[in-house]
Amino acid sequence: MSAKGNLTIKNEFKESDKNGVYRAIYSRRDIRGQFHGDTISEEVLSRILHAAHHAPSVGFMQPWNFILIKNFKIRRAVHEAYKHANSEATLMFSEDKREKYQKFKLEGILESPLNICITCDRNRFGPTVIGRTANPDMDMFSSVCAVHNLWLAARAEGLGVGWVSIIHNRELSEILCLPENIVPVAYLCVGYVTHFPPKPELESAGWLPRLSLEKLIFCDQWKTDCQTNWPKLYEEVQSYRNSYQE
Ligand SMILES: Cc1cc2nc3c(=O)[nH]c(=O)nc-3n(C[C@H](O)[C@H](O)[C@H](O)COP(=O)(O)O)c2cc1C
Repeated sequence: MSAKGNLTIKNEFKESDKNGVYRAIYSRRDIRGQFHGDTISEEVLSRILHAAHHAPSVGFMQPWNFILIKNFKIRRAVHEAYKHANSEATLMFSEDKREKYQKFKLEGILESPLNICITCDRNRFGPTVIGRTANPDMDMFSSVCAVHNLWLAARAEGLGVGWVSIIHNRELSEILCLPENIVPVAYLCVGYVTHFPPKPELESAGWLPRLSLEKLIFCDQWKTDCQTNWPKLYEEVQSYRNSYQE
């Protein structure tokens, strides 16, 4: 009972349940290689798709579809689209970064046993949807939530997932025969892997560091820093960082 006499709900997650959720979050990685040949059973695939389908969505719009791509002719076409976009990308980086960029492997389209394209139907349930009236892109964000649910569930199943975004949507839409109102949100490479790197590969390669969370937290308004305005939280955030392992 709370002080006011109302019934409060006890957290029904056991310590081990909580640990499982956090473990999936901290050990999830973007996977571009190290796939091995084991096939993904329909049982496991069904579970991760259900996890994606239970993502939150604006107005319960559920704007997603899941295109499961095994066909090599289609994958090769997607890979060509990737190569095209990646050669454009290479030129966008300053010369000092370009060489390093070119060494990164940023996709596993052909090596992974399964590719999944998660889409957003921008017209599902018509033009007016609860919660999407002021911010029409909320449907896209909902599909992103589905992507992340799938990514975490896959990690819990021991499956690697890599997101490939270096592809022009118009080329991808053409290859996958998407109608006008269906937007590709994420192109994913999925499969069992030999290992999950302990850290983001871009961090290990010295491309970018993980930022300090406590510096990203503001109180009430932009740039009103946490250290001054909520020092206890600031300290807690700092010390907690060292207590989990990626
Ligand atoms: C929206 C989005 C697009 C991404 N696109 C790519 C991509 O095209 N190629 C790639 O190698 N990784 C891509 N990534 C993965 C990120 O590089 C990766 O999440 C980040 O470096 C942190 O590493 P981690 O996911 O292993 O923790 C993408 C991730 C997100 C969320």
